Amino acid sequence: MRKRTGRTAALSVLGAGAGLLALTLCAPLAHADALQVLHWWTSASERKAANVLAARLATENIDWRDAAIPGGAGIGAVKVLKSRVLAGNSPEVMQLVGYSLAEWSDLGLLLQLDGVAASGNWSRLLHPTAYSLVQNHGHVMAVPLGIHRINNLYYNRRLFARFGLTPSATWAEFERAAEKLRLAGITALAQSSEPWQVATLFETLVLAEAGPAFYRELFVRKNLEAYADPRLLHALKRLKTLRRWMPTPLRERPWTDAARQLADGDAAMFIMGDWAKGELNAWGLVTDEAFGCVAVPETAQYHLFSIDTLAMFSASYSHQAAQEKLAEVVISAPLQADYNRIKGSIPVLRGADTGKMDSCARNSVQVFARGAAAQAPSLVHRMASDESTKDAIVAEVSRYFNDEQVSAADAQRRLATIVRATSEQGKPP
Ligand code: BGC
Repeated sequence: MRKRTGRTAALSVLGAGAGLLALTLCAPLAHADALQVLHWWTSASERKAANVLAARLATENIDWRDAAIPGGAGIGAVKVLKSRVLAGNSPEVMQLVGYSLAEWSDLGLLLQLDGVAASGNWSRLLHPTAYSLVQNHGHVMAVPLGIHRINNLYYNRRLFARFGLTPSATWAEFERAAEKLRLAGITALAQSSEPWQVATLFETLVLAEAGPAFYRELFVRKNLEAYADPRLLHALKRLKTLRRWMPTPLRERPWTDAARQLADGDAAMFIMGDWAKGELNAWGLVTDEAFGCVAVPETAQYHLFSIDTLAMFSASYSHQAAQEKLAEVVISAPLQADYNRIKGSIPVLRGADTGKMDSCARNSVQVFARGAAAQAPSLVHRMASDESTKDAIVAEVSRYFNDEQVSAADAQRRLATIVRATSEQGKPP
């Protein structure tokens, strides 16, 4: 556990007024306010989902001032945030997720949302994983939006029908289908060589190879013995084997371009988080009609998750009422349903209505509900580790993937070295 800063301690004293505050939460704001929101939702579906939030806020007299920074997985947005905060110009709201939320909150820069969470009964209504993720040292520091599942495989139904293929439950079946497609001149698996996309595929392969318990040893506990385990070597080898079925040359492209390949029938399959499903839907492709969505081979029982959350910068506290209102409305059931349907994710509320969900979302709900034994927190999407360890692992995996000269054994050794070095840094002298 990290130590509490003076600022968070002071805020918790102020938290004694939370009951009073809760009384003011239900009515629209008496005075119009505006919140600048820094995020990385720039694709068609991401924009549409953000617009749902903005439209709902407008009914509360609050103007959503959009500050979107392009770049999948927030690589650019997190850098912009750092320089803005250093320049004393923090946004009012930021898409801050997982470990980065704890890092920023330890600096004492974020608004505590304990009052909103208490009056909204978040501890009872939210999935326990989502609720614990937004807490730091016992205080609620962000509002969760939706739960993404990352271990999804999408397939183009027209191509599958043409070649008499069915979705693969095992890697052996996958290889047979992919080889058939390759021999017919079809790219079996869409992929970009962008580092975070390669590493997102890699973490999925680790889960397939060894399941959530080993996954946590590797990426959450950073157990050095796990880094010497043959299962890690196998996952690395599979990552390189999969290149055989990817486009050549393999280019560094946004994830939306790889999704477009699948949509256009230029590739038969695509492995990516379910924001890609939201995107295909936004382009007019209906789940189970134009494309199918199943778990990545050998991961059907698991849920590799990433939970998007919004945190509020406290700065002068002059926007506190509007920031709290945003946190309040995000958790309402209708908004959760609308936003997550467009975004491709599932609601953070337990027992959400699955009636209007597609098969992909329903499956995500069922598997996530099995709890911690089925859930694996995404490394690449900041659920498992601090930002610098995550960045170092992503860079190493991508180097291995893109360089013929680097063997799986070399990569395994280098990953262990990274983890040893980053763990040493955290130790007291
Ligand atoms: C975020 C998603 C986003 C995706 C692609 C992930 O890290 O959780 O909300 O759609 O990156 O940018």
